[in-house]
Formats: sequence, structure tokens, C-alpha cells
Amino acid sequence: MNRKVPAAVKPSDSSDSEVAEAVLPTIGVIAGDGIGPEVVREGLAVLAEAAARDGFAYETVPFDLGGERYLKTGEVLPDSVLADLRRCDAILLGAVGHPGVPPGVLEKGVLLRLRFEFHQYVNLRPVRLYPGVDTPIKGKGPDDIDMVVVRENNEDLYVGAGGFTRKGTPEEVAIQTSINTRAGVERCLRFAFDLARQRAKARPFPGLSAEDRRNGLTGQVTLVAKTNVLTFAHDLWMRAFTEVSRDYAEIKADYQHVDACCMRMVVSPERFDVIATTNMFGDIITDLGAVLQGGMGLAASGNLNPTREAPSMFEPVHGSAPDIAGKGIANPIAACLSVAMMLDHLNAVPTAERVRRAVAKVLAAGTPRTPDLGGSATTADVGRAVRQALD
Ligand code: NAD
Ligand code: IPM
Ligand code: MN
Repeated sequence: MNRKVPAAVKPSDSSDSEVAEAVLPTIGVIAGDGIGPEVVREGLAVLAEAAARDGFAYETVPFDLGGERYLKTGEVLPDSVLADLRRCDAILLGAVGHPGVPPGVLEKGVLLRLRFEFHQYVNLRPVRLYPGVDTPIKGKGPDDIDMVVVRENNEDLYVGAGGFTRKGTPEEVAIQTSINTRAGVERCLRFAFDLARQRAKARPFPGLSAEDRRNGLTGQVTLVAKTNVLTFAHDLWMRAFTEVSRDYAEIKADYQHVDACCMRMVVSPERFDVIATTNMFGDIITDLGAVLQGGMGLAASGNLNPTREAPSMFEPVHGSAPDIAGKGIANPIAACLSVAMMLDHLNAVPTAERVRRAVAKVLAAGTPRTPDLGGSATTADVGRAVRQALD
């Protein structure tokens, strides 16, 4: 990657070999709209303190994108800004989406464009209930809710293929096409199976039956699709799934139709380990997943480019929440957990773990909590508590 060398750390003899250059990882920050800047502020403050404890040095570069810029200048994502973002090692994004801007302008023009331009073909969305957090699912606890959704992030209905004919007339036709490529589907599925293997090494998936375990299975990938209706697109998914699964003998290849998956995520969340799914279905089931883990304020995600030829981007699953924006009461935990995922990606795993331990401590303590979790604390209170809980 073509990384920037900050002036402060440039070796005095710049004729030195590249290896000798001290290059700090650069984090591009798109705070965005609504509660985006409110939660990103806390995420960055937690990052700063956690990183200092481990001697992890980095630099941040702010990018002014979102509704305000669009309304002022008409710019959504200028090519020069895209080029600057490409030089970052990772991107932290709050949220985009502004009540004064027509739907889709910022969502497609900033968020989806970055996901596509930077080939962030996996959207990784862990669904994990932390001890001390209530789930609305009766009788279920942290041992039951610990799955990861691998959402395909570059294809499907999201590519923007389609159009209108006879727009605005009673005969209007609107078409939006789901694009699914064998290569795009396969790389996503391989990521999911690799992840299941990695999770099983740390701890075999407890949802497997005794018979599965006797048969040598240690983890599971559930393909979530709709093969009974989408007999072209999801036939491709199923064939790729069956073929890829042969390379992972110890991982159970499970399948659920998306409608039944929604039902089972509520009734028996413990039966899911890794879920692999399409872009559209992944969007929908991860809001449901967010609720299982305590709400939108807790759900983190990473838009990953596993090849690392372009930056990956980390963001809460939630949006700009215009209903609570400006009130200082947004829950910053999703942003903090997104920072932790970014640290994993930057190979600063001990610092990532440090952030997750601090979040776990605050959640287990039961206070302070923002109103979405039944408390009356502010965004800043919770951010401060996470920083104070850093060990
Ligand atoms: P949303 O996620 O912004 O809000 C849904 C509900 O969850 C709201 O009641 C909100 O108050 C609550 N909520 C969300 N995050 C919270 C937090 N951190 N703490 C406490 N409560 C929280 O979804 P929406 O209302 O459908 O969308 C609002 C805007 O955001 C739209 O413009 C949409 O397109 C955009 N959006 C952006 C992203 C993104 O940038 N990644 C994601 C989703 C939606
Ligand atoms: C998400 C959001 C986005 C999506 C929108 C804002 C484009 O809902 O990240 O889940 O649909 O992917
Ligand atoms: Mn969504």
C-alpha cells in the first residue's frame, strides 16, 4: 500500500532504504452525520488511551464528508478525497444519512462507494451478548448469543443495477437487479469457513450435537439464503457453498432459508456460529442480531478488504439516528467495539482486547448506561467510563 510518511517521523536521511522508515498507521476518520460525530469522538478517545498503554502509535486524518458538506457544496465524495482515503491503513466511520438530503445520496455516494471502491467484500458483524446486558429474548444469555455474520458486501441488490421506464406514469416499471458472481460469492464463503475454523480453534462451537462432535466437527457455517425462490442467484450460492465446504471437513455446512433464520435467531440463537449471507439479507438480519445483543447501540462492524490492497473500514451497524442526534445520549459502545475491530485489523490485537475488556467491565457494572439501555447517562459519561475501565 502506498502509505503516507508523517513528517514528524520521517528519517532525517531520506535516502535510507524504505525499511528503515518509521511509518505510523494512518486512520482516516469520517465522523459523518447525526450521532456519527458524537460516538466517533468517544471511540477515538478510548483508542487514544488504550493505544498509549500499549505504545501503539498511529495518526488520524479527519475527512469532512456527509450531509453538511453536501448541502453546502453539492459534493458527496470527490475523487481527490477518495484518493486520500485510499492511502489510509484503515477508516473509522460514524454514520451517514441526513434528514435534509434525499435518501440514497449519501448512503450510496459515500458508504457504498467506499465499500465498492476499496473492495471491502466482507462485512463482518459479530453478534455477541455481553454479560450484564439484557437481551429481549426470554431465557437466553451470553452463552447462547455468540455468532458472527459474514455479509457479502460488494454485490447483490446493492450494486445499483437497474432503472425506470415510464417513470411517473401509471405504467411505470422499476427494476433493481441482484448481481451475484461466482468469484464474489466464493471469496465471501471462503472467508466464512476460515473464520469458523479460527473460532473453533479457540473454542469448538458448543451448538454442535454429540453426533456432530463424534464425526469430528468443530465449527459451523450456516448459509442463509432463499434457494426455494431465488432459484438462479441462490442456486449459485448453494453450489459454491457445497464446493467450498469440501475444503473444510471439520466445519459443518448448515443451511437456513432467510425467513426461518429470522425465526431461529430469536427462538434458538445458540444454534448459530458463523452465518454467511448475501448483502441484502445480511443488512436485515444484522439489525435483528443487534437487538439480540442489546440494541443498535452495541453492534459493531468491519467492512474488510481481506487482501489489504485497499483500506478496510470500521463502523457501528447503526445509522445517524436523527431522532436522538444532538442530544448527547447516543450509546458510544458500538463505536468503541468498532475501534476494537479496527485494532484487530491493524494487528494491534492486545490493544483491541484491552478495549473489549473495558467495554465488558462497564457493561457488567450496569452503570453508566445511555437511555437505550435503560439508563440516564450521556454519551460522554459512557465514553469516560470505558476509558477509566481500561486496564
Ligand atoms: P438508525 O440505526 O440510525 O436508528 C434506528 C433506531 O436506533 C433509532 O431509534 C435510533 O435512535 C436508535 N439508535 C441507533 N443508534 C443508536 C445509538 N448508538 N444509541 C442509541 N440509540 C441508537 O437507523 P434509521 O433511523 O433507519 O436511519 C437513520 C439514517 O441513518 C438514515 O439516513 C439511514 O440511511 C442512515 N444509516 C446509515 C448507516 C451508516 O452510515 N452505516 C447505517 C444505517 C442507517
Ligand atoms: C448498514 C446500513 C447501510 C446498508 C445503508 C446505510 C446503505 O443500513 O450498514 O447496515 O444497507 O448496508
Ligand atoms: Mn443496515
